[in-house]
Amino acid sequence: MKTRPKSALTLAMVALFTMTIFAFTFPQDGWVVPEKYKNMKNEYAGEDEDGIGEELYNQHCKSCHGKEGYGDGTKAKELETELNDLTSAEVQSQTDGELYYKAIIGRDEMPNFEKKIRDEEDRWMLINYLRSLAK
Ligand code: HEC
Repeated sequence: MKTRPKSALTLAMVALFTMTIFAFTFPQDGWVVPEKYKNMKNEYAGEDEDGIGEELYNQHCKSCHGKEGYGDGTKAKELETELNDLTSAEVQSQTDGELYYKAIIGRDEMPNFEKKIRDEEDRWMLINYLRSLAK
C-alpha cells in the first residue's frame, strides 16, 4: 500500500490542474442561467412609465454598476470581480430572463435581491430599465 499517498497526490494535482484550466476557459461569463429562467417571459416588456425601474436601479445597483451601467460605481473598486459593462452588446444580447436571474438571484459578489425587491412587476421594471441603458 505504499503507492497510495502518491496516487492521492497525483489525483489532487490533476484536480487542481483541471480547475485552473476551467477557470481560465470560463471566467465570469461561465455564469449558467437555468433554462427555467432563461426562457421566462417578460409580461411588461418595454414598460417603465412611472420610472420604478430607474428608481430601483439608483437605489440598489448604482453603487456598484455606476449611474450609466458602465461598472464604475463608487463600490466597484472594492470588488474582486470585474464588472461587465451593462450597456454592452455582451450583456444586452442576453434574454430578459437571463438578466432577471443574474440581477435578482445573483451569485458571489453580485447580491441577491429576492428579499429587497419582492414585487414581480417591479423586478421586470428594473430589467426594462437595464434595457434602456443599451448603447
Ligand atoms: C455590491 C455590488 C453590486 C451591486 C449593489 C449590484 N451588483 Fe450586479 N453585479 C455585481 C458583480 C460583482 C457582478 C458580476 C458577478 C459575477 O460575474 O460573478 C454583477 C453582475 C450583474 C449582472 C450580470 C451582467 C453580465 O455580465 O451578464 C447584472 C444583469 C447585474 N449585475 C445587475 C444588477 C442589478 C439590476 C442590481 C441592482 C438591483 C445590481 N446588479 C446590484 C455587483 C453588484
